[in-house]
Amino acid sequence: MSGAPAYYIRTYGCQMNERDSEILAGQLEQLGYRPAAGAEDAQLVIVNTCAVRGSAEEHALGYIGQLKRLKDARPEMTIAVAGCMAQEPETIAWLKRHAPHVDIVFGTHNLHRLPALLEEAQAADEMVVDVWESAGEVVENLPSRRAEGVQAFVNVIYGCDKFCTFCIVPFTRGRERSRRPEDVEAEVRALAREGFQDVTLLGQNVNSYGHDLDPPTDLADLLTRLEPIEGIRWLRYLTSHPRDFSQKLIDTVAASAKISRHIHLPVQSGSSAVLRKMNRKYTREQYLDLVERIRRAIPDAVLTTDIIVGFPGETEEDFLATLSLVETVRYDAAFTFLYSARAGTPAARWEARGPVPDPVKKDRLNRLMARQYAISWEKNQAWVGRREVVLVEGVSKKDPGVLACRSHANKVVLIANEPGVDLVHRFVPVRITGAKTFFLTAERVGEPVSPPRRRVELPVL
Ligand code: SAH
Ligand code: SF4
Ligand code: F3S
Repeated sequence: MSGAPAYYIRTYGCQMNERDSEILAGQLEQLGYRPAAGAEDAQLVIVNTCAVRGSAEEHALGYIGQLKRLKDARPEMTIAVAGCMAQEPETIAWLKRHAPHVDIVFGTHNLHRLPALLEEAQAADEMVVDVWESAGEVVENLPSRRAEGVQAFVNVIYGCDKFCTFCIVPFTRGRERSRRPEDVEAEVRALAREGFQDVTLLGQNVNSYGHDLDPPTDLADLLTRLEPIEGIRWLRYLTSHPRDFSQKLIDTVAASAKISRHIHLPVQSGSSAVLRKMNRKYTREQYLDLVERIRRAIPDAVLTTDIIVGFPGETEEDFLATLSLVETVRYDAAFTFLYSARAGTPAARWEARGPVPDPVKKDRLNRLMARQYAISWEKNQAWVGRREVVLVEGVSKKDPGVLACRSHANKVVLIANEPGVDLVHRFVPVRITGAKTFFLTAERVGEPVSPPRRRVELPVL
């Protein structure tokens, strides 16, 4: 074992948190830390938390609780809690009372303070808490340790201004701040030079990108600017808000061979009455009109969505409207959630006055999932026989004889892991041979179209 201290980061939540963890890791490696396989082997453990639903918080708090045993055995180790939960004052109070083994708490707006906080914690006898209520300027050029492979996340807009009445994100991530297009372009060019080929642009509401810049710009123009970058095969973006999905963006995607045809378009509910209470700023009809325009321009679009059931006041009729919307749109997949009250949001007050009873919520969720799974299965059948180029993401965790791949339109595709052929992180032509609810199966029909991975020793970029 070398003398360098080892770190371990446990990440909960969305891609933005994953990206933040890469930046935390990059800073640590610049300080001389090396990655550890798990918390047991680490001198520094960071828990990067998510606050979007009660269940996400419980997972993180449970894990923080487990770390006490390690800290008791090795009091010199450092435990830090970061991410969206840290932005909530309730969390700090809870940690102080129930988790005094935590040394450092910092939030989503001051990742760059990590090196200073580690130093402060060395000298302090009590928990070092540094959480900023609002974000300062976007800090560019922080080092980062990207995940292994050829896929990279690139932040383009931070925060969210939408204030859906159920959602904690505007409170944990602050107001919308776009990065300058030239900074995004420079980052993507550097990624291409490093051998990255599949780039996903990130924002909680990615298609409001650029409205706050001077001069203002938009996601369509940003994608057009990134498209010619050589070496980048696939461009994706997450997450779209239906209200801000412009015709210009539809046309840009339709005209491009590089931009993914996967569109994640969270609807949340099929009832205009519920959508209004959610402050989603669109009606059922407007949403369906958008879907129709997408389908017309991009017939092979793969549409996925997020749906919440049991929002306070949701009636059976509202729920049936959601079911009928799911039938009409025929999503490829849907992430379905039970409404979870988030402290400080308007919907949490309505929930306190009159929640949808738990058994009703669960029954609705089951009915919705059953319907969606059947549709997903049916939609996937249409892919059988098609030729696709897929990116091999890795060996299947469940079966070493299988490679897990992703198609340009974000379908999970499984192919055989052939002995003696290293296809991991390469783009491979396949023919789809079978379809299930959550994945397609395929056979390889040719040699990889991309070179073997170039990045052997990953640089901190
Ligand atoms: N910015 C994205 C996603 C935000 S969080 C968007 O606007 O679509 C991801 C998903 O979590 C949301 O789409 C929503 O379906 C779900 N979600 C957010 N808050 C929730 C809550 N309080 N209870 C249950 N689900 C929630
Ligand atoms: Fe939350 Fe709504 Fe913003 Fe999405 S758009 S992050 S659901 S407030
Ligand atoms: Fe969770 Fe924060 Fe992402 S609340 S979903 S980690 S923005």
